[in-house]
Amino acid sequence: MTRPDDVMPPKLDSGALAPTLWSTEEQRPRISAVDLFCGVGGLTHGLVQGGIRVGAGVDIDPACRYPFEANNSATFIEKDVNQLSGNDLLQYFAPGDLKLLAGCAPCQPFSTYSRSGRSKKRELDWQLVLGFGRLVQELEPELVTMENVPQLADHAVFQDFVKYLDGYHVWSSVVECSTIGVPQSRRRLVLLASKLGSEGLRLSSGEYVKRTVRETISGLPPIEAGEQHARDPLHTASTLSPLNMKRIKASRPGGTWRDWEPELRAACHRKESGATYPSVYGRMEWDAIAPTITTQCFGYGNGRFGHPEQDRAISLREAAMLQTFPEGYKFVRSGEKIQFSRLGRLIGNAVPVRLGKVIAETLTSHVKKSFGQELPQA
Ligand SMILES: C[S@@+](CC[C@H](N)C(=O)[O-])C[C@H]1O[C@@H](n2cnc3c(N)ncnc32)[C@H](O)[C@@H]1O
Repeated sequence: MTRPDDVMPPKLDSGALAPTLWSTEEQRPRISAVDLFCGVGGLTHGLVQGGIRVGAGVDIDPACRYPFEANNSATFIEKDVNQLSGNDLLQYFAPGDLKLLAGCAPCQPFSTYSRSGRSKKRELDWQLVLGFGRLVQELEPELVTMENVPQLADHAVFQDFVKYLDGYHVWSSVVECSTIGVPQSRRRLVLLASKLGSEGLRLSSGEYVKRTVRETISGLPPIEAGEQHARDPLHTASTLSPLNMKRIKASRPGGTWRDWEPELRAACHRKESGATYPSVYGRMEWDAIAPTITTQCFGYGNGRFGHPEQDRAISLREAAMLQTFPEGYKFVRSGEKIQFSRLGRLIGNAVPVRLGKVIAETLTSHVKKSFGQELPQA
């Protein structure tokens, strides 16, 4: 059984691939990618920042098209991954480049909140991971990367996915994203697979600087609860009820609802037994990392999503920046109405851009190491 952190033994002679590797103008290996389940493009944008060319992203949700295409020079393919063949994707890889098939299938079926019930839906979603595996088999890319929630590693479907990687060196591990410079606590299962070898085929967390909430969002202009900033429509905070306004005023950064006067507490928190979820209605701390940015991150009552000093929940722009999207990343067309639940879902479900960048840098360095000095120059 393959467990995260295992590296599978060599299966392929990498020398056979060497002539395709150098681009004449840049003297470095080129990698082209297709991003399955691309969403708004968190993973794609990070791969591009890390030097990988992304030809296309595939997603079934039409809401992802605008943000994906407005921020990335890649084609958005609005399709069910299960309806695609390897041949359909071939045209999106630049000729002569190494092919990378990347993807992050929907995570909800594997999260701790959704283990029970909805078993039919769960089975269908699991098939998406296997659809990814089938495309690996059909396309035979030199490189593969997959990201998901850590719980996926405990399911048989993960082992089934790894079976599709016969002939690849495989590394997988649970990565705490704050150790690679994401200003957020976010644990993710990351898998890297390569036909080139195992050298450097692992994410290392050693050399990255931790980033805080202050370093990430303190430069944004102040806004009030319910306000939308005139210049950036995404810098919008949800409204607060009069009771929640009193609560946030009584909250200190890093504290809990236990700090409040009893009359401000929710009925379930007044009972001695009501000790669950102490971090709901919490405020973030300036000099710490943020909690995991979820699809509900725009709601003060949904977690520790209160701004460190302004009396409001974080704005959608702040959530996106804590997911390491650049400040100028476009999520809505000019004049488009802000829908918190839709945008929260797109932002909370994204792969942090920085994680994509670190994956790209790791794979690029792995490719260089795999060929070393033996690589012929064109
Ligand atoms: C976890 S999100 C991926 C986030 C994305 N990688 C990013 O960085 O922004 C999973 C995505 O899978 C998409 N999806 C769900 N079922 C799909 C299917 N059958 N085919 C293609 N995409 C699908 C969802 O619409 C969602 O955008």
